[in-house]
Amino acid sequence: MKTILIINGEKYWKDYFAGFNVVQKKIQTAEFIVKDSSLYVHDADGVCQPNVIFWRLGAVNPEAKHRNILELIEYSGVPCVNSVSTLLMGYERLSMLNGLKKLGLPVIDFNAATNLTQLKNLEMQFPFVVKVGNHHGGYGKSLVSTDEQWEELKDLLFIHQDYVTTEKFINYKYDIRYLAINDKVWAMKRKGKYWKANSLTQEYQIIEPEKEWIENVKLLQENIKADIVAIDVLETENGEKVILEYNDIPGLSGFPEDAKLELSSIVKSK
Ligand SMILES: Nc1ncnc2c1ncn2[C@@H]1O[C@H](COP(=O)(O)OP(=O)(O)OP(=O)(O)O)[C@@H](O)[C@H]1O
Ligand SMILES: [Mg+2]
Repeated sequence: MKTILIINGEKYWKDYFAGFNVVQKKIQTAEFIVKDSSLYVHDADGVCQPNVIFWRLGAVNPEAKHRNILELIEYSGVPCVNSVSTLLMGYERLSMLNGLKKLGLPVIDFNAATNLTQLKNLEMQFPFVVKVGNHHGGYGKSLVSTDEQWEELKDLLFIHQDYVTTEKFINYKYDIRYLAINDKVWAMKRKGKYWKANSLTQEYQIIEPEKEWIENVKLLQENIKADIVAIDVLETENGEKVILEYNDIPGLSGFPEDAKLELSSIVKSK
């Protein structure tokens, strides 16, 4: 029986792989070993030798170790969904943003500095958004609307070592996630309790994807050779649309069951 190793991710994934030996481990507690060209993954539950890896890291703080693990997976030749090269490309927010820019997609403009001591030089007209490092799920992002908030935030952020970006706050009407898996595309509007649509999300609404944006997400998907990818798009009152980011390990909450079936079929086919 073939072994599918799911790294992090929701518990429900196990139900999609009948007929396989399914093992789920957390990146935070697993160690990866390559010996005689074979890959083994060890944690307190035991050791497994995967035939395929289903990489579902969510809002886990990125560490250099994760990149080492991805390189070891690549070295061992064990297939991974998404592929290791796709995951490595999207791992750093800055290379992800450069990837979008290179394709000529309408990605949000930002100011950036390699260290938080330079934060004072990145100030913009209020309100603006500060984003620190490579975090997901809304983490490491703050909306600044007043001088006082900015002062407070600067002091707190000073203790971080990461790079930082600032960008205009877009007073969006809709936050739309375009999701591509294989040759299928879905679109979903999300609303959060506060300004981040993906944190404390209160509403999901599946909508008909626009032709132009199906093409955009497919262009990206093809370019980064992704089995699955999502782009987050903000739409303003006057219909202007701007991309905030792409995500190659997107959450599927709110998307139809088909999306999960499609993704699990890719894993099985590998
Ligand atoms: N410049 C902005 N203007 C208005 N809203 C923003 C802006 N940047 C982020 N947001 C809101 O915050 C949410 C989260 O931001 P973003 O998508 O950049 O990072 P993330 O959610 O942490 O990353 P990921 O989607 O990979 O988990 C967005 O979906 C959007 O609703
Ligand atoms: Mg996002």
